[in-house]
Amino acid sequence: MRLLTIIIILLLLQSAEPRKGGRNKAAQRGTKGRVRGRGRASLMKRQTQECKEYTEKREKFLDCQDRQLTFVNQDWPKDIQHLLLAKNKIQVLRNNMFEQFTKLKSLDLQQNAISVIEDNAFSGLDQLTTLLLQHNRIRTASEEFLLPLRSLSYLRIFDNPWSCRCPLETLVRTLQVPSNRNLGNYAKCAEPRSMKGKKLKELEAELLCAKDNRSEVLEGPEPGPVIEKSDAVSICNLKYPGPLLNCRHKGLNRMPPEMPLDLVGIDMSNNIIKHLRPKQFLLSKELKLLNLSSNKLEKIDTAAFAGLLHLRHLDLSNNSLRYFPYGVLEDLYFLRKLNLDNNPWMCDYYIHYLVYWLKHHPAVSFTGLICSEPEEFRGWRVEDYVKTYNGECPIDKQIEDNDNGQGAHGGSENEAQQVMGEMAEGQLDLLPQPIRKKEPNEIDIIRLS
Ligand SMILES: *[C@@H]1O[C@H](CO)[C@@H](O)[C@H](O)[C@H]1NC(C)=O
Ligand SMILES: *[C@@H]1O[C@H](CO)[C@@H](O)[C@H](O)[C@H]1NC(C)=O
Ligand SMILES: *[C@@H]1O[C@H](CO)[C@@H](O)[C@H](O)[C@H]1NC(C)=O
Repeated sequence: MRLLTIIIILLLLQSAEPRKGGRNKAAQRGTKGRVRGRGRASLMKRQTQECKEYTEKREKFLDCQDRQLTFVNQDWPKDIQHLLLAKNKIQVLRNNMFEQFTKLKSLDLQQNAISVIEDNAFSGLDQLTTLLLQHNRIRTASEEFLLPLRSLSYLRIFDNPWSCRCPLETLVRTLQVPSNRNLGNYAKCAEPRSMKGKKLKELEAELLCAKDNRSEVLEGPEPGPVIEKSDAVSICNLKYPGPLLNCRHKGLNRMPPEMPLDLVGIDMSNNIIKHLRPKQFLLSKELKLLNLSSNKLEKIDTAAFAGLLHLRHLDLSNNSLRYFPYGVLEDLYFLRKLNLDNNPWMCDYYIHYLVYWLKHHPAVSFTGLICSEPEEFRGWRVEDYVKTYNGECPIDKQIEDNDNGQGAHGGSENEAQQVMGEMAEGQLDLLPQPIRKKEPNEIDIIRLS
């Protein structure tokens, strides 16, 4: 949702900017597209350098957008209220750089190459209400640069590679003052890794300068110790090295919110989670071990493990799983161990996906896939159950023969899918007894193609 908002804002800002074209045309479009430009466009008074000056609703604008500028020219008129400097090549905002423009109300510096803001860059601008600094290269800044801006009510700083470390603390605190609700929205940390993607508005500021040498494990050689702290971390226990999130025995009925992004292991064992919802691990790209043992798991949504490209060990033992929905394992390319023990596996049509997947991923060692229902198969290995089933099924047999030594991922799932599709269409007669007896609504919908 927020991402969408940002995209819309970006599109609006972009469309508000004049395109290149003939001089007069550009001027007209420029004024028409102005943010405040609801009224009639106005006159071009004089050419200033290569910039255009014009008046709109009695306010003076100087349009210097997209002109390869690297500095502010001392010859520019001093009485302007709006200075448009977007899409130039400014790299450093020097002390007192805008001092002469004492009437300035808005300053647009977006899409430059600004990486440094000196503390007094905006001195003298005590009437400035709007400052646009998005799409630059600013990594850090202290609150000092905001101090001269006593009227500032709107500040854009998103899409800058913010380094969320100690030097940023004062700025973060300022942005978080409740009355500053339009300052710095959407800005996010680009580093350190543990903070990446977090909003400056929502950081726990005191952690930016927290001293803790555990973070060296987290950050490697990078300086500036930072500990990841989020809800998940306060509910559970973060252990190093790793980091590993230990949430054992916490009485949780769902995954804790805001897990640190760089977790290598999550131990959720001995909780009361019943239902694993989609995409909860999407950001946990480093995760190698996920322990969901001893929960109350009955249902795993198809996209529950989406994004876990590096997961090696998944422990689902001691739950209440009867089947796996189709497709649930598709993202787990590097899975090596799967604990399935002590679940009431139901040996019917719906278990086939799991068996096919395992068959086509021979590198995965698994334990505990034993039928618990129906009674006639209780205690059977699920693979044996599927084999007896396949014995009666020529199509399955054929496919089995054709794809020995299947190493790559990709084709195999399609085949499993195909097989299941064919079974569904043509071979209901061959299904074992229990499935014909089953009530239609007993098990959730299964995706076949
Ligand atoms: C860092 O870790 C070492 C050894 O683990 C410990 O002796 C030291 O007190 C720690 N320093 C800080 C600042 O926590
Ligand atoms: C998962 O947690 C259970 C209970 O805490 C433990 O016995 C088991 O060894 C863990 N599994 C893995 C793979 O670490
Ligand atoms: C299985 O989970 C239940 C709680 O769901 C727990 O009481 C029991 O000790 C667990 N058994 C094993 C073998 O871990």
